Amino acid sequence: MNVMDAISQRRSIRSYEDRPVEEEKLNAVLEAGRLAPSARNEQEWRFVVVRDPEMRAKMVAAANGQKFVGEAPVVLVACAETDGRKMSCGEPAYPIDVAISLDHMSLKAVEEGLGTCWIGAFDQAAVKKLLGIPDSIRVVELMPLGYPASQPSPRSRLEMDEIVCYDKWQW
Ligand SMILES: Cc1cc2nc3c(=O)[nH]c(=O)nc-3n(C[C@H](O)[C@H](O)[C@H](O)COP(=O)(O)O)c2cc1C
Repeated sequence: MNVMDAISQRRSIRSYEDRPVEEEKLNAVLEAGRLAPSARNEQEWRFVVVRDPEMRAKMVAAANGQKFVGEAPVVLVACAETDGRKMSCGEPAYPIDVAISLDHMSLKAVEEGLGTCWIGAFDQAAVKKLLGIPDSIRVVELMPLGYPASQPSPRSRLEMDEIVCYDKWQW
């Protein structure tokens, strides 16, 4: 599978088969994230891989009641060990770095026949408490990972001329 195939086939998966993810596949997905670029190569990302069924069940409440988070056999909890440093452009580096790493993982997951969903709707304090994550760490996103139980249709995207202009801001 080439990169564009993975990009076009990826969907947000909100229903998972009751089937574990093989260790090799999980490791391949994590490796794709490990190889991601990051600002100053600081690699502030840290991932808690949640597989324990009881823990996953408890994650549902921490993820604002999104049931499929507990259905997936794996939940990646994407964290950053960071001082919140901003790049000279004024933007913090860590959410970008963690997102790139997770995006690599979501695409590798497609190649492995797996599905994912980005989860930004969660209670940061509840996730930290549940997993024993220290206060100094930021929890950036959750990402369930597993075999899709359905393949949703593609969601719409803006047209190219609505998002790209050349040489000068046009909007
Ligand atoms: C940063 C981010 C946070 C998201 N949070 C959630 C979420 O909490 N729950 C959910 O069901 N989907 C969530 N999504 C998935 C989006 O709704 C989805 O990507 C979008 O509707 C496009 O659909 P597609 O991913 O199938 O192309 C999130 C996506 C991103 C990128």
